[in-house]
Amino acid sequence: MERSATRIDWIGNSCRLLKATAAEFEKTRPFDGLSIGTGIHLEPKTVALLMTLRAGGAHLVCTGNLNSTQPATVEFLRSQGFTVFATQTTDPVAHHQSLEAVVAEKPDLLLDNGGDLFAIAAEKPYANLLGGTEETTSGRTRLLPMRDQLAMPILVINDSPIKQFAENKHAVGQSLFESYMRFTNRSTNGKRVTVFGYGACGKGTAAAFRNAFSTVSVVDINPVTSLEAHLDGFVTPLREQAIRSADVIATVTGFPAIVTAADVPLIKDGAILMNGGHFPHEIDVAAFRSHADVIAIDRYEADHIETFHLKDGRSFHVLGGGHMANLAGPRPLGNSVESMDLGFTLQARCLERVAKRGVGAESCIVSVPADIDAMVASAYLDLAR
Ligand SMILES: NC(=O)c1ccc[n+]([C@@H]2O[C@H](COP(=O)([O-])OP(=O)(O)OC[C@H]3O[C@@H](n4cnc5c(N)ncnc54)[C@H](O)[C@@H]3O)[C@@H](O)[C@H]2O)c1
Repeated sequence: MERSATRIDWIGNSCRLLKATAAEFEKTRPFDGLSIGTGIHLEPKTVALLMTLRAGGAHLVCTGNLNSTQPATVEFLRSQGFTVFATQTTDPVAHHQSLEAVVAEKPDLLLDNGGDLFAIAAEKPYANLLGGTEETTSGRTRLLPMRDQLAMPILVINDSPIKQFAENKHAVGQSLFESYMRFTNRSTNGKRVTVFGYGACGKGTAAAFRNAFSTVSVVDINPVTSLEAHLDGFVTPLREQAIRSADVIATVTGFPAIVTAADVPLIKDGAILMNGGHFPHEIDVAAFRSHADVIAIDRYEADHIETFHLKDGRSFHVLGGGHMANLAGPRPLGNSVESMDLGFTLQARCLERVAKRGVGAESCIVSVPADIDAMVASAYLDLAR
């Protein structure tokens, strides 16, 4: 028998941990009577997570993140009866309206990615909010100053060692490398690549390009981290030299203004700039667009590449408008299924813990409980054996 199947089916069947968790949740129903508001990339891997939460009895109210919403995913979720407010947009105002719409539904739990939903809930508190999860380091940084206002359990998935090495290190590295090739169809061999940021994501990115025969330089604002990069065998030039020499520049810091208009005189002719950090503010693409030295801009619409031509004859390219490259551009695949299966199982287990009141307000913006890490690691290894 031949059957037609979609990418959502492929991903769903590949998320083996989530499938096993969903089967358990169908019996234990940890979210019966509860609603969960989500603000996380709407793409097929997220579907596997959302279906798992629904198997546990949750009513889901969903939106995505800036630029990464996939229309086929939204269509599928709506066909399954999920409430989805998202549209594919790069407009922060339109995106914020979708986030507001999710919080306006007063979900009992929030699954946040970048701190957007909890920031709105801190401004407009409501009584039934039990807490929830935050996926990223950028979200943690943003929410920490609001800790007293929030005063509820918020478990930060990014702080789990599993998320750090499975997703941030290995998967982000692989997928940013894959994205460079997917956008450009250019080789990495012999290219000089500069990676800004040598946290978990930067480590994986630097390693992926080195493994693909590039010469990789690392720039990190923290001298201790730069030393680590040096001892890991990467070139660690001063910032200016690292920009001047780079054929490819990848930013993965989580901070704004890493490459700015002031760097335009330094950028090598033909250089390709891409961002892997959560927010598109790491590379100041807007400033390039209005830069006095830029005389023309070519937009390769289908490939999501912009080429900036400069007065002095140089040109350089930006991928995906500076949005997270692995979730932008043509056929964005995001991080590997296995890494997201692990990270999303941590999400499901943490939401289960909050729903069952297994953690209290003292756990506001803290890491995943160690017993959940151990449970998820054992389950993955059992499936791999
Ligand atoms: N693309 C994806 O799929 C994906 C997945 C996970 C995380 N992220 C995002 O990637 C970013 C980095 O995450 P991480 O876990 O590696 O963070 P991290 O905090 O572990 O590392 C960031 C590094 O950047 C360095 N840094 C800060 N400012 C700098 C500057 N001006 N110049 C050079 N280096 C600087 C810091 O010293 C640190 O070593 C975050 O925005 C995170 O949300 C993206």
